[in-house]
Amino acid sequence: MKKLLISSLLCTIAFSSQTMANDVHPMCGKTDLAEVMGDMKDNMKAYKKAMKAGDSDAMEQVVTELLANIDKADDLVPLQISDNQDLNTEQQADVKKYQKGMLFLQGAVEELAKASNDDERKAALGKIGKASKQGHKAYKMDCED
Ligand code: HEM
Repeated sequence: MKKLLISSLLCTIAFSSQTMANDVHPMCGKTDLAEVMGDMKDNMKAYKKAMKAGDSDAMEQVVTELLANIDKADDLVPLQISDNQDLNTEQQADVKKYQKGMLFLQGAVEELAKASNDDERKAALGKIGKASKQGHKAYKMDCED
């Protein structure tokens, strides 16, 4: 009897730790927001390439696309806050905070748009990196298990 109890206890522990290890939201990395973020990552790569080439037309084009993607992201809800449109009061407040982060990012990208030399561009890129780091720390779900 005691043996049975111990083995069933061990089974429970083994199962629950396995569930915890795989406890990743099925939509993690597959949301509309994740797709927009992926496009923003491509925008950043394209911007750095254009900057290296000194191609200001291309830089301007990328910044326009980046701002349009920020607009899209601003209308979406991070998966960590909710996986549906039905938001309670607390979730609505969290979305407002997330949108503040997006506004900070938008300001940094607008600075990038106005930058007229590489020093100013690098400063704006640093701000964008900071916005992204803070935004991800606060609102991005870890999709790894
Ligand atoms: C230019 C700046 C940024 C870049 C390049 C960027 C890039 C990315 C990338 C590559 C992902 C992973 C997408 C995937 O899983 O396929 C991601 C996810 C995410 N990012 Fe960003 N990010 C930026 C700024 C921000 C900011 C400022 C915030 C918040 C204020 C934010 C919030 C999120 C969230 C919430 C996710 C998870 C998506 C979800 O909830 O479904 N990101 N980002």
